[in-house]
Amino acid sequence: MGEDRETSQETSFERALARRALEVEALLRDLLGARPLSGEIDRPERLMAAMRHGVLNGGKRLRPFLVLETAALFAPKGAREAALRVAAALECVHCYSLIHDDLPAMDDDDLRRGQPTVHKAFDEATAILAGDGLLTLAFDILADEATPLAGDDRAALVLALARAAGAGGMVGGQMLDLAAENTRIGEADIIRTQAMKTGALIRFACQAGAIVAGARPADRERMGEFGAAIGLAFQLADDLLDLTADTATMGKATGKDAAAGKATLASLHGEAWTRRQLAGLVEQARELLEPYGDRAGMLGEAAIFIATRGR
Ligand code: IPE
Ligand code: IPE
Ligand code: MG
Ligand code: MG
Ligand code: MG
Repeated sequence: MGEDRETSQETSFERALARRALEVEALLRDLLGARPLSGEIDRPERLMAAMRHGVLNGGKRLRPFLVLETAALFAPKGAREAALRVAAALECVHCYSLIHDDLPAMDDDDLRRGQPTVHKAFDEATAILAGDGLLTLAFDILADEATPLAGDDRAALVLALARAAGAGGMVGGQMLDLAAENTRIGEADIIRTQAMKTGALIRFACQAGAIVAGARPADRERMGEFGAAIGLAFQLADDLLDLTADTATMGKATGKDAAAGKATLASLHGEAWTRRQLAGLVEQARELLEPYGDRAGMLGEAAIFIATRGR
């Protein structure tokens, strides 16, 4: 593959990603509006401002993209509205995880997406509450009738998101990640931690798209495997970028893992090994897409983007 072709492919993928991001951001802005919903008593101004700061601050919106593209693969003409709302719900969980990840008691970061972290722009207590508000809002969005889903699919999504985000998923992974600071842990433990803290939400993104689109159980399963492979790749790339990229490019501090005494696969094995692993995971992900042929082209490109991204 020539350099030019690679560059132009990446550009068209990034354009597609940016287009999807705009759609989901418009919905997120709406969902984070000032006006209380039916059943709510009030929406405190400062809390809503902190939630908006933590969400509407220029993330890549990769998880929403995966929801939307997976849904489009299995229901090319339908399920758009539901997929968009499920994508927004997942982004709320992701943004909450970042707000809490950045807190002084966790990674203690001042910069996120090129802007002050929520506890810097507001204060620590407000950042904790903004995260709590976003996690709760995610389940509100899934349960709301405005998200057009059949009862079974709605319940399946609520359960899958709870399992991906909770103690056995992202939150549990964050716990294991903290425990890994200044302790020597083995490779299997690192991989489990990654699969939980980062992989679980990415896996959910791909499964959710398949559920929303009414895909068959075998396809839901397959997309879960695809999500798990790119989820591992995602954290591997994040750890490599933490080691090799600069703060200006990333919009967040780098060199954090080494400073915290946290072993990652990238720090243990170095850049060349990590890039080979990433290539293997992309290969595995693309093999899982094979039955869908060209229709899964965008998801295949997403796998490449995740493994080779520069921020
Ligand atoms: C960063 O996720 C946190 C990890 C799970 C490694 P992203 O790299 O997707 O962050 P944003 O949403 O684009 O800012
Ligand atoms: C965070 O991992 C994963 C989450 C669940 C938020 P990191 O701590 O490596 O993420 P960054 O590097 O701060 O984005
Ligand atoms: Mg962290
Ligand atoms: Mg962090
Ligand atoms: Mg990191």
